[in-house]
Amino acid sequence: MHLLLTGGAGFIGQHVLAALLRRGHAVRVLDSLRPDVHRAEQAWTPPAGVELHRADMRDAAAVEAALAGVQGVVHLAAKVGLGVDIGDMPDYASSNDAGTAVLLAAMARRGVARLTLASSMVVYGEGFGLCPEHGAVRPAPRREAALAAGDFEPPCPHCGRSLGPDLVQEAAPPDPRNAYATSKLAQEFYAANWARSTGGAVAMLRYHNVYGPGMPRDTPYAGVASIFTSALRAGRAPRVFEDGGQRRDFIHVRDIAAATVAACERHGEGVAAFNVGSGTPRTVGEMAAALSRALEGPAPLVTGEYRLGDVRHITASSERLRQRLGWQPEVGFEAGMAELAQAPG
Ligand SMILES: NC(=O)c1ccc[n+]([C@@H]2O[C@H](COP(=O)([O-])OP(=O)(O)OC[C@H]3O[C@@H](n4cnc5c(N)ncnc54)[C@H](O)[C@@H]3O)[C@@H](O)[C@H]2O)c1
Ligand SMILES: [Zn+2]
Repeated sequence: MHLLLTGGAGFIGQHVLAALLRRGHAVRVLDSLRPDVHRAEQAWTPPAGVELHRADMRDAAAVEAALAGVQGVVHLAAKVGLGVDIGDMPDYASSNDAGTAVLLAAMARRGVARLTLASSMVVYGEGFGLCPEHGAVRPAPRREAALAAGDFEPPCPHCGRSLGPDLVQEAAPPDPRNAYATSKLAQEFYAANWARSTGGAVAMLRYHNVYGPGMPRDTPYAGVASIFTSALRAGRAPRVFEDGGQRRDFIHVRDIAAATVAACERHGEGVAAFNVGSGTPRTVGEMAAALSRALEGPAPLVTGEYRLGDVRHITASSERLRQRLGWQPEVGFEAGMAELAQAPG
């Protein structure tokens, strides 16, 4: 297919680009090379045969030009990050939501009917836990006194009992907790509006904790891996907060790229959301241990420190993606962490 890949110069985008080219697609990249992502001295040059349109998603004329002759769009361009500062709200809303709206309107004008959208697990907020009595519930906020006493599991909001693990499904109600999460969810809604009114198809990929070569250091996703690796390289033990039992779904960026390509090629009709995770929850403590084995460094130090507001667990079921799109992850946790530990930077 002739495809437009937005955000193709970014961390995930570069892996998606390589995977699309390996599959024989003709790819054009639109990316603004945001200065907060791309430092000036590391100018990004596309691989041979790939046209780079250096432009912003909000530039309607540039987006329309980039869509010429294209049959499908893979939309990854977005302002990513923690979004903890309320002052960042306009940039998230504008870069991510206005940008997506401009893209969708241009696709409608150009008759481009297939979209693969990079969404995120952050749309679920704190996820769900299982209460023996009340079933799947949203965890109540964890209290400072409980955390200080080393009681880290979030309580059931109804009876206060500790919640067991649950895997979030795509039908779970969204609960975005910050500007970034809100902007990702709004992208999904705009894309669904577009698909329903134009007859287009959109696959919304809710990526979980993506890690791997080229990973930025300060994302809400796997940034802690960089902190652990830096400590180990300096000969220090990685310091693990709480009791190290925080569960996440870490997924390697090459598996993310393969899932994105599968959705782009195989999702031809309607609106569907897909969790994209390994399907095997791991703890932050296990990640620290895998990194210290790979670097032959000191064993992790579990400190019991905590930050109020940290999410205890967030793990997903990625069965829908496996079943409908025939995808499965290929990079094992231990091998993926070893590769990350050895990566430069
Ligand atoms: N990294 C993760 O773990 C993760 C998890 C879930 C979802 N996602 C989503 O995956 C996508 C890619 O994330 P990433 O980690 O590769 O981020 P990244 O910052 O490395 O890459 C994003 C790219 O988009 C470009 N860009 C940003 N705003 C733009 C705009 N307005 N116009 C044109 N280009 C613009 C940037 O220059 C950059 O090259 C994003 O949509 C993000 O929300 C990432
Ligand atoms: Zn309960």
